Amino acid sequence: MHPIVLAVTGASAQPLAERAIQLLLRQEFNVHLILSRGAYEVWSSEMNVKIPLEPLQQEVFWRNHLNESKGKLICHRWNHHSANIASGSYKTHAMVILPCTMGTLGRIASGYSQGLIERCADVHLKEGRKLIIAPRESPFNLIHLSNMKKLSIAGASIVPPIPGWYTKAQTLDEMIDFIVIRLFDSLDIELGSLNRWSGS
Ligand SMILES: Cc1cc2nc3c(=O)[nH]c(=O)nc-3n(C[C@H](O)[C@H](O)[C@H](O)COP(=O)(O)O)c2cc1C
Repeated sequence: MHPIVLAVTGASAQPLAERAIQLLLRQEFNVHLILSRGAYEVWSSEMNVKIPLEPLQQEVFWRNHLNESKGKLICHRWNHHSANIASGSYKTHAMVILPCTMGTLGRIASGYSQGLIERCADVHLKEGRKLIIAPRESPFNLIHLSNMKKLSIAGASIVPPIPGWYTKAQTLDEMIDFIVIRLFDSLDIELGSLNRWSGS
């Protein structure tokens, strides 16, 4: 399978991104990871973790932080416009933005490819490849909603990180897994086992 691009932006749901990186590597996927400028800020203020900016140092950071040696991980800076994934000629399986801020959502919806994340999303849409967007904000205003509508019409899947209660999760970790594994269902990728609804 071609690589998966995982973009992480500065919304308040970083544990979801952390678990997604871990599960993708554990399943031996080839992952291109881009953290937005805002994501570094949120990691530092909400998670009390300072993530290295330099890509090679960041790869070592994730390997140690997640205690995961499997898979392939390539980290990119948010402004690395000449990265391979910035071009449609570089084949990828899909792109996931988890979590997605309203800022990044708006920039993609208006075609403003300011950084690598927006450019990559633009490439996935223009190439007709899967783009999964997990918007995190509450409440949504009309601008957020119309940007989501626009992106949905353009071919993206809008998959908000909303928990389901039917799994009867007992811990926060179980709820995080539910959200992350269900999100990757959109790509037909089984990242882990899930207590799925099987009828009443
Ligand atoms: C602790 C913290 C939490 C935030 N949570 C959200 C959020 O849930 N959704 C959102 O759209 N923006 C949120 N923001 C604001 C974005 O991080 C900010 O708009 C940033 O410029 C977005 O940049 P990015 O889209 O490049 O990540 C948060 C900011 C901070 C510092």
